[in-house]
Amino acid sequence: MSNINNSAPVVTIDGPGGAGKGTVAAAIAAAKCWHLLDSGALYRIIAVSGEAADIALDDTNSLVALCERLQIVFAAERVQVDGQDLTEAIRTEEAGSSASKVAALPPVREAILTLQKGFRRAPGLVADGRDMGTVVFPDAPVKIFLDASAQARAERRYNQLKNKGLSVNLRALLEQIQERDARDRERAVAPLKPAQDALIIDSTQMTIEEVVAAVMTQLASKVG
Ligand code: C5P
Repeated sequence: MSNINNSAPVVTIDGPGGAGKGTVAAAIAAAKCWHLLDSGALYRIIAVSGEAADIALDDTNSLVALCERLQIVFAAERVQVDGQDLTEAIRTEEAGSSASKVAALPPVREAILTLQKGFRRAPGLVADGRDMGTVVFPDAPVKIFLDASAQARAERRYNQLKNKGLSVNLRALLEQIQERDARDRERAVAPLKPAQDALIIDSTQMTIEEVVAAVMTQLASKVG
């Protein structure tokens, strides 16, 4: 991308699934009128598009080729991939689980790295994921690691799905979350962990508004 701006400030928000990263990142980006990168969506897109093309989730070469050829457009809170709307398809628990499998393949991460760096543009970027502060934007002036207990994350997800009218099982959700956490934390490349200079926020007992306020305070003190 021609207008990449390596000096644009970045706020990175990393942490396990269900900690509220996406909601917090969107609120900060809206408040500052900055760009937003939902890096997990990229891994979900590769997994879902790979499965649709009958590519096995460990077929590294085909998955890398897919990363290089897919036309991905984020606009108006929707995601279009090669002209097809995948907004809902990438949000299922299965898509999240498949994403964490392709995310464990180093060449896939390398291919997605280039895409991610292209999101850094003036006036600034809010990026959420697992390795935003450790690998993708290590020079970001503000790094947050947003955590919450697995139980709290499963309960939040349970309530979200129930509100959508879906029938869900809390215990199964908790197991899926713990399995995905283990895969993300234990993988050899870019494992989920706080950057050394990250502010760690445990949102287990906090509202989204409180987390957003804490991140805005950190941003004001580091970037202005
Ligand atoms: O954040 P989200 O649940 O959408 O991410 C889906 C999966 O993508 C994660 O479980 C993780 O394996 C992978 N991921 C990653 N690095 C990122 C973002 C997501 O490995 N920066």
